[in-house]
Amino acid sequence: MSEITLRLFQPEDAQQCSSIMQDHFRNEAKNLPVEVRTQIADARTTEYVQQIVTDRIIAVAMINDEIIGMGALKGNEIRHMYVRAGFKGRGVGSRILAFLEREAYYKGVNSLIVNSVLHSKQFYVKNGFKPLIESQIERHGSILEAVLLEKFLE
Ligand SMILES: CC(C)(COP(=O)(O)OP(=O)(O)OC[C@H]1O[C@@H](n2cnc3c(N)ncnc32)[C@H](O)[C@@H]1OP(=O)(O)O)[C@@H](O)C(=O)NCCC(=O)NCCS
Repeated sequence: MSEITLRLFQPEDAQQCSSIMQDHFRNEAKNLPVEVRTQIADARTTEYVQQIVTDRIIAVAMINDEIIGMGALKGNEIRHMYVRAGFKGRGVGSRILAFLEREAYYKGVNSLIVNSVLHSKQFYVKNGFKPLIESQIERHGSILEAVLLEKFLE
């Protein structure tokens, strides 16, 4: 595999980030009913990415000029972690998370939280997050099983 590089979001990344999110909700996210998945995918437009980046940091993982993964930091909360289907399980998500942790630490954040869907819980646990409480979150009228996790940064 070519070398993977990580960097902060640049304005020209908005379309590729939108595409990663849309592909996730169209083709994966099988924990959601298909109508809900379609509705969320349709809402994850380039304009949506351009809008959310105004109040959070987005990190992208790239191979050559292709974005294969992304993640965001909003205050002390990890959001929007996605790795493209063909690249999962190879450490890309962990590298994005470590990048965001470092950014958070330099901003003076000392503990991170994430509201994770249950099937991604192990990813966060493997990366040092501790589960706090299981909960249910509402997304476009659908109830999802979720877990709130926390990690102290040192
Ligand atoms: C969760 C996610 C970002 C992890 O990225 P990744 O690059 O696959 O993660 P890494 O390779 O760094 O770590 C893999 C670990 O994550 C966990 N994991 C969770 N879902 C996984 C999946 N579909 N494929 C591989 N590993 C997965 C496993 O514990 C795995 O550990 P192991 O390799 O020791 O078995 C990625 O699987 C993804 O995009 N999932 C769909 C979107 C999502 O659920 N995002 C989180 C929202 S809260």
